Amino acid sequence: MEVIIKENYEELSKFAASMISEQIEKKPDTVLGLATGSTPLGTYRELIKLYKENKIDFSKVVSFNLDEYVNLLPEHEQSYQYFMKENFFNHINIIPENYFLPDGMAKNIPQSCVEYENNIEAHGGIDIQILGIGSNGHIAFNEPGSSLGSRTRVKTLSKSTIEDNSRFFENIDEVPRYAITMGIGTILDSRLLILLASGENKAEAIAKTIEGPITAMVPATVVQLHPKVTIVIDTEAASKLKGKYLSEPAKLLLN
Ligand code: PGA
Repeated sequence: MEVIIKENYEELSKFAASMISEQIEKKPDTVLGLATGSTPLGTYRELIKLYKENKIDFSKVVSFNLDEYVNLLPEHEQSYQYFMKENFFNHINIIPENYFLPDGMAKNIPQSCVEYENNIEAHGGIDIQILGIGSNGHIAFNEPGSSLGSRTRVKTLSKSTIEDNSRFFENIDEVPRYAITMGIGTILDSRLLILLASGENKAEAIAKTIEGPITAMVPATVVQLHPKVTIVIDTEAASKLKGKYLSEPAKLLLN
């Protein structure tokens, strides 16, 4: 596991975007695993900037998002489909047929979850999966107690996630109670994980993720089992770590 501590959110976002753009340069048909939430927004902004400067080409890129609320229309401002279009897809040259999100309006949700998994596999699996982390240690909507081997399925949002996400809705009663999410097993199948966290309210979850024991009660701790994971955080999110970590990948320092 590589832990990179950046001075602030802007530096963190630039670093994450540079990792993604290097990957797309190496493999133009990269399969990205994307996340919503406030944390990856800066990374998307940086990637849009690189695209506008002609430094990155998304025309062959395929993407799969981690999750989607159940029962919000794709046009709803808080649906993750809407979020991704507004904040990323509408500003780059990704082909609409090449980005996928779980279908929160599917008539047969269990079947649509199986199809989502099959679709990821049919595209050769995810090359880079971007992850945020909940203040309770969730990844995607895999809330504490989620099976560490879980696949894409419906999950009930925990009370703390409903509270955290209520800032995006007019009131807490409007926050959907269910979401479709890639499972922890699905996430672990990705070839590289990049976990991003910014701010002091993530410090405890980050300390547990990096330095705590692996437990289903802090789903993000499962990244310790993955052979290739980069955790990119700012100094505030790093404030409860006991170990010493770098601000650049070790390979760069060796050059
Ligand atoms: P945030 O959400 O990026 O808005 O903090 C992260 C998450 O809940 O996974």
